Amino acid sequence: MTMLKTMDARIYTVMHITGAFMIFLAYGGLIVRSMLRSEDILVRKMGAITSGVGLLLVLVSGFGMLSRLHGNTFHPWVIAKLIIWLVLGGLIVLINRKPEMGRALWWVTLLLGFLAIYLGVIKPG
Ligand code: HEM
Repeated sequence: MTMLKTMDARIYTVMHITGAFMIFLAYGGLIVRSMLRSEDILVRKMGAITSGVGLLLVLVSGFGMLSRLHGNTFHPWVIAKLIIWLVLGGLIVLINRKPEMGRALWWVTLLLGFLAIYLGVIKPG
């Protein structure tokens, strides 16, 4: 039973990290597209779909791990991750509409990724 629980959580971890890769891969592409003032629709679509599915995977698997590993307790680090998730999701609007903010958005995106990983691995508080 314990082994089954761990297995489940590991599947969620795989989903979680794959989802995160999708978000950051897509945002990188979208930021570059925006900074180049490109009107390319295919890249915009790929970015929207990949980041959208990635965000969904991260959220579903995050709650999966929360229930398997933490009895659905909303520790402060979990709340912080949810806030990061919301901010990340909203960033796509700025990425697509504000090419002049591309450079800042690049580093903010990376910083949010770092924070989410830090919170998930270190779990402070
Ligand atoms: C893009 C945003 C996110 C990134 C990059 C991210 C990344 C990570 C990483 C790298 C881990 C460590 C996996 C492991 O060592 O097992 C982790 C764990 C976790 N994350 Fe996230 N995460 C994100 C968003 C979220 C969200 C929105 C939730 C909401 C519930 C969440 C909940 C968790 C939980 C519960 C764990 C398990 C911690 C443990 O091992 O006990 N994460 N996350």
